Amino acid sequence: MNVVVTGATRGLGRALCDRFLGDGHRVCAVQRGARDDLAGVAGYHELRRDLGEPALVDDLAAELAAWGRPDLVVHSAVRCEPDPDGEVAVDELDRHVRVNAVVPCALSRALARRLDDAEVTHVFFGTLSACDPEPELAAYGASKLALVGLVRHLARTLADTHHRVASLVLGSLATPDNLAHLDAEIAAGLGADRAATLTAAQQRTVRRALVARRRPGAAFPDLVPLVAVHRAVCALAELGPAGHGATWRLDHGLEARL
Ligand SMILES: NC(=O)c1ccc[n+]([C@@H]2O[C@H](COP(=O)([O-])OP(=O)(O)OC[C@H]3O[C@@H](n4cnc5c(N)ncnc54)[C@H](OP(=O)(O)O)[C@@H]3O)[C@@H](O)[C@H]2O)c1
Repeated sequence: MNVVVTGATRGLGRALCDRFLGDGHRVCAVQRGARDDLAGVAGYHELRRDLGEPALVDDLAAELAAWGRPDLVVHSAVRCEPDPDGEVAVDELDRHVRVNAVVPCALSRALARRLDDAEVTHVFFGTLSACDPEPELAAYGASKLALVGLVRHLARTLADTHHRVASLVLGSLATPDNLAHLDAEIAAGLGADRAATLTAAQQRTVRRALVARRRPGAAFPDLVPLVAVHRAVCALAELGPAGHGATWRLDHGLEARL
């Protein structure tokens, strides 16, 4: 497959990019930073772009089409900055909405226009924070709520094309950043010396307890493994037309409130 992954420098996008390359697929990564570790790796291509700039959408779609007709587009790039002083600043909200909702949907729409005879699956990532934002992440949550509406609209308007649009609503992921935060919380609670003596199994139990405390009612009180997200993305790509308009949840089994 030809796979476009946005936001492949860190977190989920990075893990997906590495897995797709490892499985022998071609990957075009789109983000601001570089993956120096992948320079020269067969099948890897990089476009360093700021997805906060709506004006780049048509040119980017043209560049992606020229790279190779994408079979799968995974929108993992995200802006997630704490609201300064707990206030939602208008310019920050605007930037979050552009990076997290407007530009990804516009890019998929531009690709659908340009590659109207291609079978392409477009995957977007939702989050529990869309309906229940953490206190300091209101701009992020609002942008992800905007994404829900824009993706539903995109799915409706592409219904008669070969382009499939699907969403995965994710709970807290087992990204290196989240693991580091949890481990710091454990060290702060137990003391660094005691935390260092925990076995892997004990560490996992404490992490699960912290996730359960953050997400009361979770049926799966644990960080969502990145490999599970990769499998779900691949399954959506394999579904073809049947996956169009799907919203799947890997969100700790919590009741959706939307
Ligand atoms: N982490 C979680 O627990 C969690 C939970 C639920 C849902 N999700 C969703 O999963 C997806 C991945 O999240 P993550 O935590 O893995 O993200 P992350 O670690 O913060 O990585 C974000 C990526 O987006 C890129 N990016 C940020 N701003 C950009 C911009 N203006 N233009 C282009 N690229 C930009 C970054 O690269 P550069 O800085 O190099 O541009 C980076 O590669 C997101 O859609 C997020 O909402 C995550």
